[in-house]
Parts: sequence; C-alpha cells; structure tokens
Amino acid sequence: MLRYLLFPVETITYGPSYGWIRLMVRSPRPLDPDEVWERITGRLPPAFDWLRKNYPPTFMRSLLIAGKMRQAHVRGIAAHYDVSNAFYELFLDSKYMFYTCADFPTGRETIEEAQAIKADHLVSLIDPKPGERILELGCGWGAMLKRIYEETHDKANLHGFTLSQEQVAYNGDNNGFNVEFRDFIKTDYPAEHYDKIYSIGAWEHVRPKDIFPLMQKLHGALKPGGRLVQHFFCRNEKRIPTTAVAGQVFFPGSLNSAYADHVKWNEAAGFTITQRSIHDYRPTLRAWFENLVANRDRAIELVGVETYNRYLVFFPSAYRYFDDGVGMLVRWVMQKR
Ligand SMILES: C[S@@+](CC[C@H](N)C(=O)[O-])C[C@H]1O[C@@H](n2cnc3c(N)ncnc32)[C@H](O)[C@@H]1O
Repeated sequence: MLRYLLFPVETITYGPSYGWIRLMVRSPRPLDPDEVWERITGRLPPAFDWLRKNYPPTFMRSLLIAGKMRQAHVRGIAAHYDVSNAFYELFLDSKYMFYTCADFPTGRETIEEAQAIKADHLVSLIDPKPGERILELGCGWGAMLKRIYEETHDKANLHGFTLSQEQVAYNGDNNGFNVEFRDFIKTDYPAEHYDKIYSIGAWEHVRPKDIFPLMQKLHGALKPGGRLVQHFFCRNEKRIPTTAVAGQVFFPGSLNSAYADHVKWNEAAGFTITQRSIHDYRPTLRAWFENLVANRDRAIELVGVETYNRYLVFFPSAYRYFDDGVGMLVRWVMQKR
C-alpha cells in the first residue's frame, strides 16, 4: 500500500521514470519479466515519453542531483555491489565475471563468448608485458586482471582497486590478486610508477568535478610514455538528462559526464587519445536479464524479492538509456605526452 502512496510523491519530485521504477521495484512479488521488459523498452505513449524525457526540468534536475551527490561515494558503491557475490554469479559470464559491456560482433555469441571477445580487444589495447606495473581502477571480481594474467603470468606486478568489500573478499578467495579496498579518486599515487593503468566500467561512477583532477593524478602516476586505457559509458549531451535522476535508484551518488568534457579533460591533463571505439551495451544487458530470469528462485533466495526486482528493472532501464541514444559506451587508449 505504501508504495502506491509514495508513487505520486516520488513522481512529482523526481520524475515519472523514477516514480515508476520505485513502484515496480517495491512490488512484494517477483515482477513478470516479459511485462517489465516490454513496459520499459517498448513503445511508450507519446505524452508519457515526452514527460519522462523532460520532467523534472533542467534546473530541478541539477538541484536534485546536487543533493544526491552529497552522499559518500563509498556508500553508493556498496549499495550496488555489496549485494552478494553468489547473486552476481547467477547472471554474469562464469569464466571471468565481467560486469561490463561485452562485444557481440555477429549478435549470435553467448555472453561467455562475447566477454572473451571484449577481453581480447582490451588486451590488445592495454598490451600488457611481463615485468610492467599494471593497475586496474575499479577491478570488480578481477575479470580483466585474470585475462591480463593469462598473457603475462606476472601476478606480482598486477594490482587492482575496488570500493566493494565483497569484491575484495572474492578476489582474495578465488584469484589471489593484489586487490585493495581503496578509493581511486582520493588516492595519492606514487610518481611515474605504473606502465599501464586502465579502468573498465568504473569511470561512470566518477562525478564530473572529480575527473580532471583525477586525470592529472593518473598522468603523474604513469611512467613517461605510459598508457591509460578506459572503457566506460558517458552521456552525449552536457545537459544532465532526466535518466541521471532515475539512475540514482540503481547507482546512488554516481553521475557520469559528457563525452565532449571527457575529451577536453583528457587532453588538458596531458594525454593524447590514440584509439577510440564505440560499442553497443544492449545485447549484454539483455543477456544478463535472461540469465537473471532463468535463475529467479535462487536469486530471490540469495537477495530477496526487492533486490531481485531492482536488477530485473535495472537491465531494461539501462537498455532504454542506450536505445534512446542518451549515452554511449566508449573504449579508448590514451598515451601520456
Ligand atoms: C561496473 S563494475 C566493473 C568491474 C570490472 N572492471 C569489470 O569489468 O567487471 C565497477 C567497479 O568500479 C569500482 N569503483 C567505482 N568507483 C570506485 C572508486 N572511486 N574507487 C575504487 N573502485 C571504484 C566498483 O567497486 C566496481 O568494482
């Protein structure tokens, strides 16, 4: 009953997408997957579609987001990632456990194959060599560390940071990588220490005001000629979209930046972008959704109905974000000048 009372209040305050998402997530029963997918990614009545893209208006969005950004970054990360490692195992690829966009060149790949193809592409961009000091910012369950280790067989020089305690424990128990619980935004990096630094799916958590100072720090942390590789999604417009407000349900305290700002900050910090490509996140989101649905009962046993519903709504909502062209997935290589 409470959820129906909150619905109009949250819709008026945060917008129709936020209101609907909350209403669905709070359902006391597991949501019907086909209905959720169709309702979120399908054709919407034109008036609702206009409203969800334009309400709240820009000035209100900025105020709401400023309020949300006051919360500690670390709490927002924990809210999303410290759910249950076993739960994530139900829908991610089993070999690496990547929680980032895969590559489906023909559209017929399984999630296992698509993540392996993505990992191969990233290896070719990072170009890791034994003996090189390599750091991953936001390493998740160690997926890319594993793939790099397959190339270099050099664990001693591989290092990862995450803000999820569950992921630190997972890496310790399963991979034996040097993974630290550490905020890569606040870290003071040793000068000219690393040959390569990369991040996959972590940059979108960094708030716009933090990006340029962080880029400067990373520039200082790389050896001369060092390389920074990033895979992340950003928004296409500088204006904060309404999705940034609705997205607070899934990633509290995170706000991504505009593509043009990233380019400007990277270059101003002393990097030259030497390669870049754009990738389609949608097939990955659909694959995770299907895996989650196939494992519904176990998922609910592990995390409860509300969290199950939240992820069931999250995947199609993110699908819609890319389908509407609000954001795009970028992979690029930057060389220290
Ligand atoms: C979407 S996951 C991606 C994980 C992994 N790179 C992958 O490809 O599967 C985002 C990761 O970024 C980490 N992260 C986000 N902000 C961070 C910060 N400020 N410091 C350290 N880790 C952070 C999270 O803890 C999580 O491990």
